[in-house]
Amino acid sequence: MKLQGKVALVTGAGSGIGRATAQRAAAEGASVLCADVVNAGETADGIAAADGTAEAITLDVREAGAWDAAVAAARERFGSLDLLANIAGVVSTGADTVVEQTEDEWDRIVSINLRGSWLGMRAVLPGMREQGSGRIVNIASEAALIGIPGLAAYTATKGAIAALTRQAAIEYVKEGITVNAIAPGFIRTAIQDGIEQQLLDDMAAGIPIGYFGKPEDIAATIAHLFSEDASYITGQVVAVDGGWGVS
Ligand SMILES: NC(=O)c1ccc[n+]([C@@H]2O[C@H](COP(=O)([O-])OP(=O)(O)OC[C@H]3O[C@@H](n4cnc5c(N)ncnc54)[C@H](O)[C@@H]3O)[C@@H](O)[C@H]2O)c1
Repeated sequence: MKLQGKVALVTGAGSGIGRATAQRAAAEGASVLCADVVNAGETADGIAAADGTAEAITLDVREAGAWDAAVAAARERFGSLDLLANIAGVVSTGADTVVEQTEDEWDRIVSINLRGSWLGMRAVLPGMREQGSGRIVNIASEAALIGIPGLAAYTATKGAIAALTRQAAIEYVKEGITVNAIAPGFIRTAIQDGIEQQLLDDMAAGIPIGYFGKPEDIAATIAHLFSEDASYITGQVVAVDGGWGVS
């Protein structure tokens, strides 16, 4: 129970890595505000059914006003806000090469992945600075570190999230606040829905460990970065990737 007494806000909590992170934070004793545009209520209900403490809120991470409302809701319902997991994110629905990507789709990806992460940090940091403590974990990707054909807008946002993580970490390092990012490798979630099974098998075979990661693998690392055990870690992009990044 390494997060006992803490209050966490988790975005993307309706699915995949966000849901697993909300569940793990609650299992570690945190009160969790589950935020998403869909299905956050299901996650909160599941946590409550497992004797955890959670509530849900509808949050579109692109909207500054919705962030203010979420921060206010966390404080009102649970009394503080100590932990932010900025997990909501999308990949492109169409071709995402540098040449083929469209302006509208580029703006959508940047708006959710990058602007959303920035707005989240901007919303929670004043309260964390006031209380002199806080933990933020953003979700970058292995795609922040290497080029991946057909993920141009996506890699651009994830690289920028890694840079913004370092920036925020250094700006607030003297104020009891840590800011880190995770670079997940291939984690099996709804984000790969629509990819043919043969291609999924080929992708898994290309990971040194030989299989996809689980959302729980990322949730466990986030729980560690949220905890006091990680108080000397800030500004890092932590790869959780089955060895992909070093192969
Ligand atoms: N799964 C992987 O292999 C992998 C690898 C690297 C990074 N990531 C990152 O992990 C994060 C979570 O991805 P996942 O695999 O769990 O995918 P997922 O599709 O299961 O979950 C993404 C969640 O984000 C939510 N979301 C989308 N737009 C939103 C918005 N505007 N406001 C609020 N919520 C919104 C969705 O509703 C969904 O619940 C993403 O940032 C993704 O880029 C995933």
